[in-house]
Amino acid sequence: MTSATPSPLQRLVILGGGGHAAVVAESAAALGHAVAAVASRERPAAAAPFERIEWLGDPDDPAVAARLDALVAEGARLHAAVGGADLRLRWIARFGSHAFATLVDPTAHVSPSASVGTGTFVAPRATVNARATLGVGTIVNTAAIVEHDCALEACAHIAPAAVLCGAVRVGQGALVGAGAVVLPGVAIGANATVGAGAVVTRSVPQGSTVHGVPARGA
Ligand SMILES: CC(C)(COP(=O)(O)OP(=O)(O)OC[C@H]1O[C@@H](n2cnc3c(N)ncnc32)[C@H](O)[C@@H]1OP(=O)(O)O)[C@@H](O)C(=O)NCCC(=O)NCCS
Repeated sequence: MTSATPSPLQRLVILGGGGHAAVVAESAAALGHAVAAVASRERPAAAAPFERIEWLGDPDDPAVAARLDALVAEGARLHAAVGGADLRLRWIARFGSHAFATLVDPTAHVSPSASVGTGTFVAPRATVNARATLGVGTIVNTAAIVEHDCALEACAHIAPAAVLCGAVRVGQGALVGAGAVVLPGVAIGANATVGAGAVVTRSVPQGSTVHGVPARGA
């Protein structure tokens, strides 16, 4: 875990080339980091912000992974910019959490008493309030709210405009969908999925999917 203090400006390689990666690249640029390259299975669309950024290829290709290791050894940092938790977990395991940069968009609010795991992305206008803890590689997406005393395990994803009320726990790799509300003290199990717009009133078992108001098993 690290605090949310700003890191020195870095050369970044973004892992992933889709829409989420574009949001991450723009936040990185707003923070003053230099986005040096993108590594993704598919070549990113030749559109902003990727049109002049070098494409290295698939990070799961051993030759590309070796190039990424070399860039990290030279001081560059990676950021896993895909929504799928399985890929983020795999890349963090492959390259080591030390290789990853934490990115907190300048328009986000992160409490000084919160802690933010390495490789996490806190997106534009997101809020992370007092004593919340974010594990490695988590995503607090656009305008999402993580209230006081919440605890997110590694690679959890809180989608745009979702709200976690106080002291919610979210297990490793779980997704809380866009605009969902999770009531105080509820636990979302590892690898669970909460559907967009759900209101979660009681704890969700690991690996399960719930949606609706109140949220029920899908
Ligand atoms: C809940 C969810 C995981 C279900 O996905 P799925 O298993 O592929 O479900 P389907 O699309 O086949 O829909 C199955 C049924 O559930 C309904 N449904 C799907 N998502 C729903 C939701 N969020 N709320 C209420 N009902 C939903 C569908 O209308 C459908 O109903 P029907 O059988 O009466 O037609 C998905 O719809 C969802 O909400 N994912 C979160 C997306 C998100 O926020 N991503 C973040 C991106 S940054």
